[in-house]
Amino acid sequence: MTPQIIRTKAELRALVNGWKRAGERVGVVPTMGALHEGHLSLVQAAQDACDRVIVTIFVNPKQFNNPSDLDSYPRTEEDDARKLARFDVDVVYVPGVDQVYPEGFATTVSVSGLTDVLCGAHRPGHFDGVATVVTKLFTQTGADQAFFGEKDFQQLQVVKRLAADLDIPVEVIGCPTIREEDGLAMSSRNLLISDRARIKAPALHEALSEMAAGLRAGGTATDLRQKAEAKILAAGFTEVEYLDLRACDDLSLLDTPSREARLLVAAWLAGVRLIDNIAV
Ligand code: PAF
Repeated sequence: MTPQIIRTKAELRALVNGWKRAGERVGVVPTMGALHEGHLSLVQAAQDACDRVIVTIFVNPKQFNNPSDLDSYPRTEEDDARKLARFDVDVVYVPGVDQVYPEGFATTVSVSGLTDVLCGAHRPGHFDGVATVVTKLFTQTGADQAFFGEKDFQQLQVVKRLAADLDIPVEVIGCPTIREEDGLAMSSRNLLISDRARIKAPALHEALSEMAAGLRAGGTATDLRQKAEAKILAAGFTEVEYLDLRACDDLSLLDTPSREARLLVAAWLAGVRLIDNIAV
């Protein structure tokens, strides 16, 4: 059944208050739309864990540091609603900008430390935008649990931190990255990759996997990075922004996986910025 679409926070609040009074557990899957199987796996996880499921679709202007990136971001609301019809989603919350950032809005949620590195170092203001909108979506939905993909691993850590720091009573749950058959991590941005470039895209995950194997065999990130970067560039990527081994909890830089660690990469392919990461 096509889920109900709600566009105002007042309507959403009235509905959620009723659920809460009935003692129901509410899950939220925050998205910017252009839903793919990765998002749908989060919806499934929410459905499995919660009595009520809200999917939010909001292309958040505050997290785009580049206006053309915001303009070209895919917007596919009807298609998204159709994809959600096979799940038990109670509400798709599609707020207008005025519902999230009403006139006079002057607050920014900024998580320091975790956002200084990786994507944070390359996309100024991006994580402030993410942290601000996620805080708003948590408070507007009143969700007990929130589901995020590990594909955006840094985002997941930032969201966990802000929820803990601001005493927001939501449990933030990370779910595994869903991949295409050739290994490319699913992302709404994949829609922007041309057919010609798409053939080259799996090199990113291949290089990560090879480097992770090298680390597990006792190599160091310093020694293995060059070969992995060369592979990505040889495949046709134009730039590797970062390729780092980092501790899962505080994202500090590591040379060997001496604690729970992730290998994270961002690289440009034919004008599209792709990110990926894997556990080591
Ligand atoms: O991962 C995303 O799609 C966005 O960053 C999020 C969490 C929905 C906030 O706009």
